[in-house]
Amino acid sequence: MQRLARGWQRAGVRVGFVPTMGYLHAGHLSLVRRARRIAGREGRVVVSIYVNPTQFGPTEDLSRYPRDLARDSSLCREAGVDVLFVPDDKQMYPCGEGAGFSTYVVEEELAGRMEGESRPTHFRGVTTVVAKLLNMVLPDTAVFGAKDWQQAAIVQRMVRDLNFPVRIEVAATWRESDGLAMSSRNKYLTGDLRRQALVLWHSIQAVRAQVSRSQKPLPAARLKARVKALVALEPEARLDYVEFFEPKTLVPMARVGRGAHMALAVYIGTTRLIDNARL
Ligand code: PAF
Repeated sequence: MQRLARGWQRAGVRVGFVPTMGYLHAGHLSLVRRARRIAGREGRVVVSIYVNPTQFGPTEDLSRYPRDLARDSSLCREAGVDVLFVPDDKQMYPCGEGAGFSTYVVEEELAGRMEGESRPTHFRGVTTVVAKLLNMVLPDTAVFGAKDWQQAAIVQRMVRDLNFPVRIEVAATWRESDGLAMSSRNKYLTGDLRRQALVLWHSIQAVRAQVSRSQKPLPAARLKARVKALVALEPEARLDYVEFFEPKTLVPMARVGRGAHMALAVYIGTTRLIDNARL
């Protein structure tokens, strides 16, 4: 991959990159279209598919994470992707006595909050694998989805702090017609769980309406209690966290007004879903 990328670099070919863990959906394909717009017709669009083990905790869904490479390949072909890069674990994390993998990239300010509190090793895995992928694909621009808002902020910080010569673009969240944010993990939502999963979007909408009706910023604690109550109405739903914060710095806000950002994580049965939006 790197050899190919260096050839493009020498030839002055622009490269747009979309890193994914596969099981592609319409949201991923919107990132591909964005990468194509940026790279142009003469440029190259690279999509990577790699279910990165270092960003999963020991009790998380690594082994059952949905995979369908044949379907992903044809979706990429139809979408005009130039290179589908699918490294394997041995290539990404070589192991063996004296030759193992032992270097990680850790962002230390933004990564401890929200997702980081619930999944303490998650962002270390994300920043490490994204750094590796950027070094392999050598893109001019990499496109990330806004659904993983905190991830995008952390990647932007890493790129800035470590002087990666790449521009990070963040593309809007894609939603199903009823508002559920698209996610490969939605595949786990069988039967009534699919309906119950709407509580994430409905909570965002309820808070957004409350904030926009109010003349002055509202206490975050009151809004959190409202979300907790909404989630409790669904039999299989359990709130992991809800937070209100400044969208760029992720600094939590005690009082919440228009323009604040809201993020939440909710278990629906055993599936953990996240969502976020500007209020
Ligand atoms: O958002 C994802 O799919 C993953 O976290 C990423 C960025 C591909 C890193 O494994």
